Amino acid sequence: MTTTTDPVETSPLSRRPERAVVGEALPHEAAALHVTGRALYTDDLVGRTRDVLHAHPVQVPAAHAVVTSLDVAPAHDVRGVVRVLTAADVPGLNDAGIKHDEPLFPTEVMYHGHAVCWVLGETLEAARRGAAAVEVEYDELPALVTVEEAIAAESFQGARPTLARGDSAAGLARARHVFEGVTTCAGQEHFYLETHCALAQVDENGQVFVQSSTQHPTETQEIVAHVLGLASHHVTVQCLRMGGGFGGKEMQPHGLAAIAALGATLTGRPVRLRLSRAQDMSMTGKRHGFHTRWKVGFDDDGLFTGLEATLTADGGWSLDLSEPVLSRALCHVDNAYWIPDITVHGRVAKTNKTSQTAFRGFGGPQGMLMIEDIIGRCAPLLGVAPADLRRRNFYVEGQATPYGQPVRHPHRLVAAWEQVGETASLDARRAWIDQWNAAHANRKRGLAITPVKFGISFNFTAFNQAGALVHVYKDGSVLINHGGTEMGQGLHTKMLQVAATALGVPLARVRLAPTRTDKVPNTSATAASSSSDLNGGAIRNACDQILERLAPVRADLPDASWEELVSAAYFRRIQLWAAGYFATPGLSWDAGTVRGTPFKYFAYGVAAAEVEVDGFTGGYTTRRVDIVHDVGDSLSPLVDVGQIEGGFVQGAGWLTLEDLRWDETDGPGRGRLTTNAASTYKVPSFSELPAELNVALLERAHEDGVVYGSKAVGEPPLMLAFCVREALRDACAAFGPPGRPVELPSPATPEAVYWALAAAREAAGAAP
Ligand code: MTE
Ligand code: MOS
Repeated sequence: MTTTTDPVETSPLSRRPERAVVGEALPHEAAALHVTGRALYTDDLVGRTRDVLHAHPVQVPAAHAVVTSLDVAPAHDVRGVVRVLTAADVPGLNDAGIKHDEPLFPTEVMYHGHAVCWVLGETLEAARRGAAAVEVEYDELPALVTVEEAIAAESFQGARPTLARGDSAAGLARARHVFEGVTTCAGQEHFYLETHCALAQVDENGQVFVQSSTQHPTETQEIVAHVLGLASHHVTVQCLRMGGGFGGKEMQPHGLAAIAALGATLTGRPVRLRLSRAQDMSMTGKRHGFHTRWKVGFDDDGLFTGLEATLTADGGWSLDLSEPVLSRALCHVDNAYWIPDITVHGRVAKTNKTSQTAFRGFGGPQGMLMIEDIIGRCAPLLGVAPADLRRRNFYVEGQATPYGQPVRHPHRLVAAWEQVGETASLDARRAWIDQWNAAHANRKRGLAITPVKFGISFNFTAFNQAGALVHVYKDGSVLINHGGTEMGQGLHTKMLQVAATALGVPLARVRLAPTRTDKVPNTSATAASSSSDLNGGAIRNACDQILERLAPVRADLPDASWEELVSAAYFRRIQLWAAGYFATPGLSWDAGTVRGTPFKYFAYGVAAAEVEVDGFTGGYTTRRVDIVHDVGDSLSPLVDVGQIEGGFVQGAGWLTLEDLRWDETDGPGRGRLTTNAASTYKVPSFSELPAELNVALLERAHEDGVVYGSKAVGEPPLMLAFCVREALRDACAAFGPPGRPVELPSPATPEAVYWALAAAREAAGAAP
């Protein structure tokens, strides 16, 4: 059924031995600890640490204001308060970001809930009461809360890149059909189960040790060092594991870790900073909402001729990762489609909100949403079924993306598309649903299939490197360290499998030590889905070095067991440990001109969804989802399927459920995040899962030049969820006259779906 028959080129890195631990369907390495509650997260370490102080922020309830006076004296009268941290305490740089636009102790409040100082107490309650006693006076300033307000006020920050190929004006001029519109999408709260946390200590020699829920220990180390005015070797950052990161802990942990470290150096006592859910939601960044204006042309066959668009990302108050997020959005406006002539402008709005940040997909989903929305809206106007319109515009071999990267293996996407079509019986179900809809006036079903093409590697080329440390002890046991962090995605599981495979030892011979900056330095963020590619490459490299040194011993002792081999090598004074390194070859990227080959390869996937919508309420259920996803030769199939299911559900949450609301009124609450708790912010739970969810891995999908032929999986499946939104559109359309386009906001919450279907009904002449 699958027709993928790529010639399996095998570079040494991707070649897989006959009997390999990679490819085995193993449970997550810490699954037993997770489900029994024994897995330790940063805050669990507090109970094992003596004399800990607790930090609490003083948050200002104004969206934009200048602090005119800060009186911390009253806090000292509160029993249990030990110290108040203010800007005057900072020995180094009063800044929490790498762009130097995020004062750690600000004098200008930039968003509702911005912390201006921190109180340390013997207990969290003492610190909280101390924070409440601090007297802050401020003058309020005008605040921009929505991206539309920022656009009107021309409030932008950072670079304004343009992606261009060919002549988009000519492309639109030669089109038979030209349409234009606006597509907006909301942001998304990460809602990791573990909120941000840092625990800092200082030893007798002034060495600062910070345990942090961070996806980027090296950058946390760098920010802590610059706040404290220390060199990097004075600071060690460790991350045991995170209870989810999803990009929210890529840059946001740094300032919080710096507060804890500052408190520890000033008091000599360990300091714990852990945000409550409401603090986490009101203080830390989220996915960027986007506003996009577009104009698109199609020829008679429904093929794209040209596209012009302007993407505006709602960056919040500081840059954080907004520029690279925007880059990735620009690199994904094409999704899987060939658009010959194209000009897309990008810019980052500056608004008085939390500083928006990385979130699974990193701008890719927002860029792709535009083109999927365009297709969903334009297909009825062209008289073409949306699935056909999508399929017709797929890339073919030999074509390149608008930024100039050749699209390799596009036939894999076709194979996945056909496999979903067949295994999900889409044609038959289409006919059946049309019949069902004709027989039901107040309930309608919808069906849609959508593709994903997602670039793997950091756009920022320098981040595509990694290190590892592999120790073989005299008894043959193996300890590995690598630069990546574990946040539930299964990276450590895969790395154990890679090391066992590379050394040819059973999995039980290999252990993994916590991620620390004093073991592997200068690491990149665990992000961009690239951590298995990068750290796996580094572990392979270390293992290969060790095997190379063992080769002469092996030649002398062909029948020796691994343990005998290792022991013999030790007595011959052969080094049994190695530092490994990997840098992804062949990458180039110019962020200014938006051109290059930023990605090692593309991950592909296809999903189809069927939904049922209630005409009275807009409430809906997802009846069935079928996914075929390309993970290359899987390193760890159970982990990969878990990533696909989880990513898909998280994407469906973003597109159809989760609804961030800031107070946009002119009242005193202006700019406040009103959905700052689980009670008001709805994330998907079991009841929102599709009743039937079928996930298949694309077969014979070896990826040459990547560790053991695998492909990254962390982010791409999130975008499979476009099919749910398009199925909702299809169901809404069924309430109206044939051929009428349906506009659906994002998120397509039940309320939004209701208004969309009511409009469709009205167009059909029925009472809404
Ligand atoms: N899966 C779980 N369970 N928890 C997470 O926080 N983060 C996602 C993805 N999958 C995440 C997850 C994000 S945003 C990324 S970039 C990748 O995992 C990072 O890990 P990887 O590079 O090992 O895929
Ligand atoms: Mo993922 S958004 O790259 O941490």
